[in-house]
Amino acid sequence: MAASPLLEAFAACLPGVEPFLAQELEELGYNPANYHPGEGGVGFSSTLEGLYRANLWLRTANRVLLRLGRFQAIQFAELRRKTANLPWEHYLAPGQPVAIRSTCHHSKLYHSGAVSERVLGAIGDRLEHAPEALAFDEEQPTAQLVLVRMDNDECTISLDMSGEPLHRRDYRLAVAKAPLRETVAAAMLYASGWDRRSPLLDPFCGSGVIPIEAALLAARVPPGLQRSFAFMNWPGFHAYSWENLKSKATKKVHAPEGAIFGSDRDAGAVQAAIENAERAGAAQWIQFTQAAVSAIQPPASPGWVVTNPPYGVRISVGNDLRGLYTQFGNVLRNMCPGWHAAYLCNDERLASLTRLAFEKGVSLSNGGIPVKLTRALVQSGRD
Ligand SMILES: C[S@@+](CC[C@H](N)C(=O)[O-])C[C@H]1O[C@@H](n2cnc3c(N)ncnc32)[C@H](O)[C@@H]1O
Repeated sequence: MAASPLLEAFAACLPGVEPFLAQELEELGYNPANYHPGEGGVGFSSTLEGLYRANLWLRTANRVLLRLGRFQAIQFAELRRKTANLPWEHYLAPGQPVAIRSTCHHSKLYHSGAVSERVLGAIGDRLEHAPEALAFDEEQPTAQLVLVRMDNDECTISLDMSGEPLHRRDYRLAVAKAPLRETVAAAMLYASGWDRRSPLLDPFCGSGVIPIEAALLAARVPPGLQRSFAFMNWPGFHAYSWENLKSKATKKVHAPEGAIFGSDRDAGAVQAAIENAERAGAAQWIQFTQAAVSAIQPPASPGWVVTNPPYGVRISVGNDLRGLYTQFGNVLRNMCPGWHAAYLCNDERLASLTRLAFEKGVSLSNGGIPVKLTRALVQSGRD
């Protein structure tokens, strides 16, 4: 049997997440290409089935793109001819609408609208009928997203494989205040260095995304198990390979070794977290409690506190959070000596009020707000 060809792909992520996405790709057995911090993703190559698998497993990526073609183009006629040479019939079923997004930098073809128009015309040339062009709806994508990048006269054409962004795991219907994206929660867990065996605690758990992502990671549950993907609409979709990948993955699921805890002072948030964990199939692995941070009761053996305390932009606006951060630091020193802490905050002065011994922080973005993940080893010391 002929070996499946290797295809070039790009896993897109939020800026700042690249090192953790590269780590994830490596853990999954891919060979990530060199990436530039802040570039918004990491390149890799694999067979088509391998790319299905990346969609099934990646926790920190927003979407997976298949690189369909890359060529020089300095005239519209050239762009149209070279685009029409690409094998569109493998990826667009008859009647499948497309959404074309073009960007142009330092190129003779600098008008993105005109570039999109020529690419649409070229797809029509290839398929003998032009597909309907729609705007891309992130919430409910019905069109196949086609990304065109003109950079220094080089045109790169990519097809989105994911459809809805990968942070949509389909478990979070119940939302508390200021929810964290699942992909950011997963990146925080990677960045914290959590060993996936020691206890993990989120004392500001809100709708539970950090403990749920932790449980799914430690239990090796693929985040894409319950959802659908854009590549399932491609004419050559191998449903048998996909089912096979999922059944292989489910055989590897096992209960996490370490205990996972989530608590929040808000009863509604805890209820939302429990409902989300049930939908994710992770409720049996997480202990949720309604408690203020001052009342947490972590186990004696050290573990990791990974959390997203209120930071005053989206919630608690106008509240003085200085007391809360000072208290959080005291609670950690008293209750969690020897633990690792990683917490997300957009205000370095606020973050420093914990008086923990900081290690190098990680810059991320949460819902468009630049934030820093502060990491520290908690020294013992009773106040
Ligand atoms: C930024 S939100 C956490 C969002 C959460 N990561 C999610 O994805 O839903 C901060 C949470 O801290 C909780 N909180 C505020 N003050 C608290 C305190 N003193 N003790 C415990 N929880 C507190 C709030 O109820 C809120 O749910």
